[in-house]
Amino acid sequence: MTGASVTVRDHRCSVGRIRCSDGRRPSTTAGHRWLALRVQIHRGHLIHVTGSPTVQESAAHLVAIEDGALVIGDDGRILFSGAYADLPAEYAGVEIDDHRPAFLLPGFVDTHIHFPQTFAGDAYGGGQLLEWLNACIFPSESRLADPEFAERAALEFVRRRTAAGTTAAMVFGSAFPHAQDALFEQTQRAGLRIVSGRGIQTVGPDSAKPLISSEADALRLTKAEIDKWHAADTGDVATALLHVAVVPRFSLSVTTGTLKNLGELYDSVRGNGVYFHSHLNENNRPGTGEVDSVKQSYQVETYLDTYDGKFLPGSQVGGKSFLGRRSIMAHSVHCTDGELARMAETGTSIAHCPVSQQFLGSGTMPWRRTIASGVNVAAGTDFGGGDTWLISEVMSDAFKVHISEPGDAAISMHPAEMLFTATLAGARALDMEDRFGNLDAGKEADFLVVDPAGWGPTAAAIDHGIRSDDPEMARDQTLFALLMTMREPAISQVWVQGRRVVAP
Ligand code: GUN
Ligand code: ZN
Repeated sequence: MTGASVTVRDHRCSVGRIRCSDGRRPSTTAGHRWLALRVQIHRGHLIHVTGSPTVQESAAHLVAIEDGALVIGDDGRILFSGAYADLPAEYAGVEIDDHRPAFLLPGFVDTHIHFPQTFAGDAYGGGQLLEWLNACIFPSESRLADPEFAERAALEFVRRRTAAGTTAAMVFGSAFPHAQDALFEQTQRAGLRIVSGRGIQTVGPDSAKPLISSEADALRLTKAEIDKWHAADTGDVATALLHVAVVPRFSLSVTTGTLKNLGELYDSVRGNGVYFHSHLNENNRPGTGEVDSVKQSYQVETYLDTYDGKFLPGSQVGGKSFLGRRSIMAHSVHCTDGELARMAETGTSIAHCPVSQQFLGSGTMPWRRTIASGVNVAAGTDFGGGDTWLISEVMSDAFKVHISEPGDAAISMHPAEMLFTATLAGARALDMEDRFGNLDAGKEADFLVVDPAGWGPTAAAIDHGIRSDDPEMARDQTLFALLMTMREPAISQVWVQGRRVVAP
């Protein structure tokens, strides 16, 4: 083989096949030059948000090319992204994977989803967040103490997120190390991206007992998970698909001692790309809701203070801050202006989970005010608080709740904002925007083939929906129809780093 010496111009081989430099399939090696490098071309209706805009700028960065092409190099990176008609001549001999009239979208990024709630999406127990946790979720998550059950949950979790086209995710983990091992192993086998960490609880009600560890074990097990799984696949955070996060469940599940210990641990590993993840300002039912409970039990001015090192009474500093550009706070529905400003200043992102917020009566995150603060807002299913695995469906609900906000707060989200939040904002929240999140040349090729033929309501909306005479508005209407109607059966292929994801 002379593959090591060929240039891109010489490529003639396609996925799974090797051809000769003259394009013929050789019957003998004599006289032929073998090419080892593989270049792929995918042809379809390309839609993505290009560049690195803010959410407010995303409409101006929307790219939609009805007859588009993606060329992917053997390193899994996008070599060319654009109109098929503009395909550089050097790729003329490469076999084409023609998906038309299907769409090619960036992979979805779910920035908040609970692995140990894989089988809890139907949890009915009465009450709002805190009652639901006690009655349904703590008992449900405790079942992962059984390694066989945990393995089944990991398999199902990977299957469901693959079906939903979730190529990258911040996954709220199980308390049990064997369950986290199963999750990382199955995720790696499928070829998906993950950031996850065991859910840490050092205090809680009786129903949470099996999930609670001692202060010492909380620290030891979290450190062990980082040592075992952080960038375990490649040994380099810059190329890894597997990453670890420090994940205290929420402030009510830990003590000032836990926050201090974990803060020191996080401070020592944050430079190596370790993440932080928790819940913030989710449910504010007066008196007994989560937000008041946190403020009362810590005697702090704001909920965010507990994650910002200021967890002592009067919001005095007691330890290190967890905030930063690899920190994601789920929900953040009821933030003060000061909390939003602090998140924006530190590069902390919000995982917006409107499906879950409706299910648990948590209210509506004020969209305009939140994005105006400059904080990056990505999307999360929060499954099983939410009852869908599909990030486009989360954005469909986001559209509905934000157009229904009171008075001047109401907003009709632009479809590009919806796509941005579902993809590029997620990559930004994971601090990997330079690697994925859109279909720009140079990025790692994480993309979905979305075929309306797989899901009747989407086919109906795409084929027969009303479209404006204005091409730009018609483009936006098509994207809107896609995001509002698509469900899992429309996602016919899922690709990460230029490799087809195969669910276990
Ligand atoms: N706050 C603390 N734990 C949880 C959880 O499991 N789900 C949600 N939605 N909020 C939480
Ligand atoms: Zn959650």
